[in-house]
Amino acid sequence: MYAVIYGKNPKLSEAEFWAFTKRFGLKIKIIESSRHWMVFDSDKSVERLFHRLGGSLKLVKIVGEGEEAIRDLEYAKLFTVSIYGRDDWKLWRELGSEIKKNFKSQGPSKFFKPAKVYAMPSELILKGFPEVKDFVFFFGGNLYVGETIAVADPFELKKLDVERPVQRAILSIPPRLARIMVNLTEIRQGNFLDPFCGIGTIVQEFLLQGLNAYGSDSNPKAIHGAKKNLNWLKKEFRTKRGAHLEVCDVRKLKHCFRVKFDAIVTEPYMGKPLKYHPTKGEAI
Ligand SMILES: C[S@@+](CC[C@H](N)C(=O)[O-])C[C@H]1O[C@@H](n2cnc3c(N)ncnc32)[C@H](O)[C@@H]1O
Repeated sequence: MYAVIYGKNPKLSEAEFWAFTKRFGLKIKIIESSRHWMVFDSDKSVERLFHRLGGSLKLVKIVGEGEEAIRDLEYAKLFTVSIYGRDDWKLWRELGSEIKKNFKSQGPSKFFKPAKVYAMPSELILKGFPEVKDFVFFFGGNLYVGETIAVADPFELKKLDVERPVQRAILSIPPRLARIMVNLTEIRQGNFLDPFCGIGTIVQEFLLQGLNAYGSDSNPKAIHGAKKNLNWLKKEFRTKRGAHLEVCDVRKLKHCFRVKFDAIVTEPYMGKPLKYHPTKGEAI
């Protein structure tokens, strides 16, 4: 049994999760779900695929139900406690002490909590992972107890965004959203196109996922930037394939590529970036 914890936009994370299960052929049975998390069974291992999700924060392996499941947690010298469904400092401390008491026969242990939150953020888990364990409690209809086994890597996503040689801060899409959008296609492989590719954020995700990547944009400068970024990606992330990039007006797409596409993933041109609500006249 597993649990997944959704990100900042839980509805989008949930939609992505279901599309992802179709994409990778996972059969899922919901055990319990809330707005921010879901406990489920899967017919295949989810752990090795988890890094393909953009909108989920943690994957938890559930060890049991009820407080007595604390006995089934694996010993760790240093651990943290994440609770979902309750914001209760006293409860948090009690659960931590109970785990510590159970570990006593195996050795000394310590637990800690970052300020102001009851659930350990991914970046802090990653810093200590896997020596520091994150023990997780879900308070729903039942109490589920587990251990975090995978986290979305915010450092990788940040690198994919801000370390690229060519940046377009306002115009380019966050890499996390590009990953979510690729999953939403529900398509596992084939020819993927972004016909408004800009500096190539979505195309870079195609390559990271080993897909046949195509990108076009009417602006030659954008295509030049995308080429530079994808060369950087090849070096930094060892992507094996290259992408087909063309300067092309979307209205003439038929003439620019001679292949059939299995999926189009794109963020089209939506007019000039706005810093305030436009007046009616400006909007028209
Ligand atoms: C919102 S941006 C896309 C940014 C991209 N997702 C990224 O991360 O860099 C829209 C892009 O559409 C391009 N564009 C505008 N009109 C176009 C057209 N008629 N055909 C093709 N591309 C067009 C612009 O040059 C711009 O790069």
